[in-house]
Amino acid sequence: MGFPRARPRRLRAGATVRSLVAETTLGVTDLVAPLFVKEGLSEPDAVPSLPGVVQHTTASLVDEVKALAALGVPAVILFGVPVRKDPLGRGADAPDGVVQQALRASRDAVGDEVLLIADTCLDEYTDHGHCGVLTADGRVDNDATLERYAAVAVAQADAGAAVVAPSGMMDGQVQAIRDALDAAGHREVAILAYAAKYASALYGPFRDAAECAPAFGDRRGYQMDPANRREARREVLADLAEGADMVMVKPAGPYLDVIADVRACCDAPLGAYQVSGEYAMVQAAAAAGWLDADAVAFETLLGIRRAGADFILTYFARTVAERLAGRG
Ligand code: PBG
Repeated sequence: MGFPRARPRRLRAGATVRSLVAETTLGVTDLVAPLFVKEGLSEPDAVPSLPGVVQHTTASLVDEVKALAALGVPAVILFGVPVRKDPLGRGADAPDGVVQQALRASRDAVGDEVLLIADTCLDEYTDHGHCGVLTADGRVDNDATLERYAAVAVAQADAGAAVVAPSGMMDGQVQAIRDALDAAGHREVAILAYAAKYASALYGPFRDAAECAPAFGDRRGYQMDPANRREARREVLADLAEGADMVMVKPAGPYLDVIADVRACCDAPLGAYQVSGEYAMVQAAAAAGWLDADAVAFETLLGIRRAGADFILTYFARTVAERLAGRG
């Protein structure tokens, strides 16, 4: 009996050869850090269900954005928590609203060194916690909501957002926002569409951080059914036709098939959102001593890259960036 001629292990024998033949990389420039800023806070406030994540004051947010810039993280996405909520979510487009203030302060601090992405939605700002305005019988009114999203996106662009990211899954939201931005003279502001966003149970900790759990019902009337794979392609193609510059799949880990499909069908830059529940599960297991959070973070993020994502929104952004810089 001869020796096996094919020996894949030759290329696994050491770190150097493994690095040469690695098909996928995870680098600091693949990361986007989600950040929360809350109006009226005097100190940053920890979010118990997201260990290591805080609700920022404007000042602590700016410090965090500067630290991420120094580490080479290319982008952040901002979520605001207002003091007052109302049925229309007026804080979302108020010129002095919490995210608009945070955008201006961050812009002043880092200029274009970090891409400032604003999540464009209403759920943090409405008293009922839904992502849109309601009809008299308590349903989310698609077209009335589009007018609100358009106003929110323009307010965010006015305040210095380089990218707006509509996350409410209303039909026609990308086109409504593109038209409004163009009419307001913001033709250079890009749109990152949450194109395939599923109605996921993994958003629980985010709703603690953003204080936006729906007061009644759920989001299954607008977010996608986790059963559906082909529908994601239709959503992405529709958003691209409406003028999206980049598209996103969310959540990431349980939806790698969707990421791979979108990568295969579309050339547009593709983001994936490793959501709060994905992060919290790893942190909880690590706190129990059941697994190594850093190693699992790297592996899950590499898997999302391997599936085809160009960049990843992740609560691990800061720690992974520190590790990659050799400072973790
Ligand atoms: C809605 C929004 C949500 C997330 C991002 N944007 C929550 C939701 O749809 O209920 C979730 C992100 C996460 O879980 O990390 N504005």
